[in-house]
Amino acid sequence: MRTKVAIIGSGPAGLLLGRLLENAGIETVILERRSQEYVLGRIRAGVLEQGTVELLDRAGVGEKMHAEGLVHDGVEFCFDGDRHRFNFRELVGRTVTVYGQTEVTRDLMQARDRSGAMSVYEAENVSLHDFEGDKPKVRYVKDGVGQELDCDFIAGCDGYHGVARASVPENSLRTFERVYPFGWLGILVDKPPVADELIYAHHERGFALCSMRSPTRSRYYVQVPASDKVETWSDERFWDELRRRVDAETADNLVTGPSIEKSIAPLRSFVAEPLRFGRLFLAGDAAHIVPPTGAKGLNLAASDVGVLAEALIEFYAERSKAGIDGYSARVLSRIWKAERFSWWMTSILHTFPDTDAFGRRIQRAEFEHLRSSTIAARALAENYTGLPI
Ligand code: APR
Ligand code: PHB
Repeated sequence: MRTKVAIIGSGPAGLLLGRLLENAGIETVILERRSQEYVLGRIRAGVLEQGTVELLDRAGVGEKMHAEGLVHDGVEFCFDGDRHRFNFRELVGRTVTVYGQTEVTRDLMQARDRSGAMSVYEAENVSLHDFEGDKPKVRYVKDGVGQELDCDFIAGCDGYHGVARASVPENSLRTFERVYPFGWLGILVDKPPVADELIYAHHERGFALCSMRSPTRSRYYVQVPASDKVETWSDERFWDELRRRVDAETADNLVTGPSIEKSIAPLRSFVAEPLRFGRLFLAGDAAHIVPPTGAKGLNLAASDVGVLAEALIEFYAERSKAGIDGYSARVLSRIWKAERFSWWMTSILHTFPDTDAFGRRIQRAEFEHLRSSTIAARALAENYTGLPI
């Protein structure tokens, strides 16, 4: 079997790359180890930067996003009970769109199914070969039968635990990592959100976030020790803790109900360098991880594949290698700026076990600076709504 671009992974990165290439007449095959149902069962955040919205429009999957997505002009910070709103539209003339990653994945998956482009789900034992040469191939097992896919390029869109980055010789790759000493306990509840926009809360007891999926479905988080177990958190305990970390008005307005999903996610920052190895390119979570505080994970995956699609389209249309040769440096520049912003948001909003009284005053000063300086607020708004791709 042969294709132009073999894409490993049917998450947002792989599916969006597939759409952008197929729309340009470049054939792809997606190899995904899980079933479609499993992939769509993942509950993931979706705060879309304007650039991501534009990419999804370009991929031809923007209709439902525009119909159901919630356009937000800003977010609020609540610091030990003091609230301050950042009006992105006033500060930088941009907005964000709240539209769940699961919905983005479903829209992309359905568009691919309609196009007839080939995806192999439950592809087992995927392995990458000869990508340092100009005739790479991917092997996998489907229904017990070994298969081989010859291709021109391989896109590793298979996430942090995928096979693509693991296939690169260790001495060819450098990684950078920071693991945070806490996690996010999140719940999903079919009740109206407590506010029209997101509220990021800092409190001496820990971070909290009030978010949403729709006007009738809310998403809340509280920071917990990395060692915490979700079984020790009843819904009642969660609501009590959330109320203690937000301001009184928000606590009073909370509409609580039974959780329909409850889980703890670890927080880490991670970057691999470089992101191109001959005919193999890494994109999305296969290349980097950000703590969810800045809502950058999905947006970075989208901007990676937007750049990669442009490079591959240029290669096939003009036989030019400029784009593919420049891919790694170009996306890494934006990745590191998003890593910085996500680390900074995490550092000022969370409580750290080793933060002393001086450190807590510095966190407070960050908040005071943000709410008293338009310049500082514009920098936050510029990063949150998305730096240029
Ligand atoms: N073979 C085939 N598929 C694989 C393999 C493998 N060896 N390993 C992983 N996969 C698949 C996973 O099952 C998953 O469906 O690759 C896909 C990777 O998707 P994501 O992990 O969602 O990564 P990405 O597409 O880069 O999207 C990044 O997802 O995890 C969130 O916060 C993250 O929002 C960000 C977004
Ligand atoms: C979410 O709604 O799950 C969400 C929103 C914003 C974040 C992280 C998660 O920064």
